[in-house]
Amino acid sequence: MMKTIPIRAGNPYEVLMERGLLDRAGKLIRERTAARWAAVVSDDTVFSLYGARLTDSLRGEGFQVEPFIFPAGEASKNLNTYCRLLSFLADNRLQRTDPVIALGGGVTGDLAGFAAATYLRGLPFVQIPTTLLAVVDSSVGGKTAVNLPEGKNLVGAFHQPLTVICDPALLATLPPEEIRSGMGELIKTAVLSGEEFFRALETNSDPLPGEELLARAIETKAALVEEDEQDRGARRLLNLGHSFGHAIEAFSGYRVPHGQAVAEGLLMITRAATERGLCDPALLPRLTALMERCGLTSDHTYEAARLLPFLHQDKKLHGGHLPLIVPRAVGHCDIIPVPLADLSSWLKAGGAR
Ligand SMILES: NC(=O)c1ccc[n+]([C@@H]2O[C@H](COP(=O)([O-])OP(=O)(O)OC[C@H]3O[C@@H](n4cnc5c(N)ncnc54)[C@H](O)[C@@H]3O)[C@@H](O)[C@H]2O)c1
Repeated sequence: MMKTIPIRAGNPYEVLMERGLLDRAGKLIRERTAARWAAVVSDDTVFSLYGARLTDSLRGEGFQVEPFIFPAGEASKNLNTYCRLLSFLADNRLQRTDPVIALGGGVTGDLAGFAAATYLRGLPFVQIPTTLLAVVDSSVGGKTAVNLPEGKNLVGAFHQPLTVICDPALLATLPPEEIRSGMGELIKTAVLSGEEFFRALETNSDPLPGEELLARAIETKAALVEEDEQDRGARRLLNLGHSFGHAIEAFSGYRVPHGQAVAEGLLMITRAATERGLCDPALLPRLTALMERCGLTSDHTYEAARLLPFLHQDKKLHGGHLPLIVPRAVGHCDIIPVPLADLSSWLKAGGAR
């Protein structure tokens, strides 16, 4: 049976979840728009796996469909691909009510969402997430962005989707490193959520989390987004693990996948918080065990001096302070503004040298 998770944003919408939903995407989108045209945005890997099923389903509902396909990977999430996508929308004369449909992971969703947010000052947007990371995190909440050479996600907009169509069967073709990456964001969400969710992950033995866990993660994110759609308060907790994680990701030249970097960042901030007596000492061993089981720990020791420049470029910097999301215990995190001069000692307490 189809599961429906309501997202009570300014423009409310639903995450629809059921195996096999991809083949009904046309009908589900048709129920929400009378438009004649639809633009499908996808990377070349995902489109070759699932593109035909989506376009057939849309055409079956009378949509005229044009696909925009770009090379898979974070390197495509830039202004160049964004401009090509805008020209594609213009060449195909998309109108104000025609939907842009993102079929893919977080890169596709962020890129297509930003084009949908800005072309003609906003087109309807549909997310069909195909990675674990996109299902549990990036497809919900309306953040869209592309990277600049100077840093990640520096240009973007808030643009909530019309709906999110989640078909968990699509995750079956994910390579193991992408499942690991998604587990990084899932574990982060469980730390924010509380004991029940965290224990469910600790006792989960499936390599790919089941629908119950996926839904729980979406509900946790939804609750934070509903409270703070524009990311000024409670939603910032979702950045748990991200300040150090983004620095690791950027320092590696984006070779460390996003969710893996978040996992490493989460372990570092938990270690630092524990060493400073700010965190329940029970969390670090539990987190380490869970990460090890998911293949998310690494032997690599980062140099604090090499990560620091990336922390100084963090877009959350405010008044000479970086707000770090600090875990106190499972289900309890705080935002602590840390002066720039103290960041090096936080990194070292977290395990950097
Ligand atoms: N907007 C948000 O709120 C938000 C939140 C978290 C992360 N993000 C962004 O998400 C991005 C990372 O997303 P991602 O990890 O999904 O990356 P991604 O979109 O690049 O997908 C990862 C890889 O998996 C492949 N792939 C996707 N689905 C597949 C499938 N079903 N089978 C086989 N291969 C498949 C893709 O082709 C790609 O090579 C980052 O840019 C990050 O900044 C955004």
